[in-house]
Amino acid sequence: MMVDWVDSLLMPSSMPDMPDSRNWFAPPPAHRLRRFVASRRDGPFIHLGDRKLINFASNDYLGLSFHPAVCMGAQGALAESVGSGASRLVSGDDPMLHRLELKLAAWKGYQACLIIGSGMLANLGLLQALADRFTHTFSDKLNHASLVDGVRLSGSQSHRFAHLDSEQLEQQLLKHPARNRIIVSDGVFSMDGDCADVTQLLQLAEAHDTLLLIDDAHGTGAVGKSGKGLSDIAGIAGHARLIEVGTFGKAFGSYGAFILGTTELIEGLKQRQRTMIYSTALPVALIAAAETALAIIQKGEVVNLLHHRLEYFKQAAAELDFMPSNTPIQPLIIGSDEKAMKIASTLADNGFFVPAIRPPTVPKGTARLRFTITAAHTEEQLHALIQCLRTIL
Ligand SMILES: Cc1ncc(COP(=O)(O)O)c(C=O)c1O
Repeated sequence: MMVDWVDSLLMPSSMPDMPDSRNWFAPPPAHRLRRFVASRRDGPFIHLGDRKLINFASNDYLGLSFHPAVCMGAQGALAESVGSGASRLVSGDDPMLHRLELKLAAWKGYQACLIIGSGMLANLGLLQALADRFTHTFSDKLNHASLVDGVRLSGSQSHRFAHLDSEQLEQQLLKHPARNRIIVSDGVFSMDGDCADVTQLLQLAEAHDTLLLIDDAHGTGAVGKSGKGLSDIAGIAGHARLIEVGTFGKAFGSYGAFILGTTELIEGLKQRQRTMIYSTALPVALIAAAETALAIIQKGEVVNLLHHRLEYFKQAAAELDFMPSNTPIQPLIIGSDEKAMKIASTLADNGFFVPAIRPPTVPKGTARLRFTITAAHTEEQLHALIQCLRTIL
């Protein structure tokens, strides 16, 4: 009797009515399977197994993740502690956070700033704090998953407009009047490299009495002459209806995120934003890295260099069919998943790491190669990449 019982515990449970962690998930179809490939970054290169490739798959647009001053900034802070030990409200509220918040707000032209663990946490928590079931949210259909999930978690009444379609957005605003409404959009779109017309979105927000949330994770540090992103180019930074999100994980070269807005908004978030209240504060090493990165960005040279490299790439690739994009994200639509995978693999055989982005990350039939150009790439590397691509295509 005893032996039977032990045997039954050891038996693989494959019966559908007895799920355990081994059969909980249905296996994804082969073409949807996400694979983690161990890789080690090395400046603008990436080691994949025994291959060293030039990395065109990083959001480290300014090469600051391996900039000696940024690394030294982090190392200095690391000499004292690694983790922050608690959430900001308990004992993790290091004065360095406040200093950097003041600097970021002044740089971007807002009254106040709140630093938070990551862009995902910023967007989830922000939407959950701002919106409830009486709120209507109006989102671009190609928004980043963190905004999509933030809207879902908020329980708000969600409306989605076709990508960049402000006419459809206006129709929806006219159709759904409510006291609390928020237009939600990426600034630079991460898979297409195109940009929201933030001026027009703000005009709609004004005309229809709504808030506007712009997540400019990819624009911050990379777009605009001074790297201040789309709101600066449009001259709308600091507007009382505008809330902006930026991250440290891309052009700043490290990890973390920040929210910008009016003093009252940021004070309100400190009371309500659960992803800040109930999550461990950003470690000081990352705050120090972000502060050093900001100082480097403010000097302007590295942002300039990125723009030169981007211009060089766009000219060299002029006769190839890249999507129109003035940002470091340069996608080339291939169409079929298999073909995109094959070209990515041939590029890798020739020393270039370029990811094939496939559905469900992008719409069906629009599998693409997503090239990211950074200040750390040399003109020779960009030239070699285009030559190779021409031959393959
Ligand atoms: C537009 C956008 N927002 C937010 C995020 C999430 O930021 P983080 O990686 O800091 O969580 C990303 C990350 O890819 C992004 O592309």
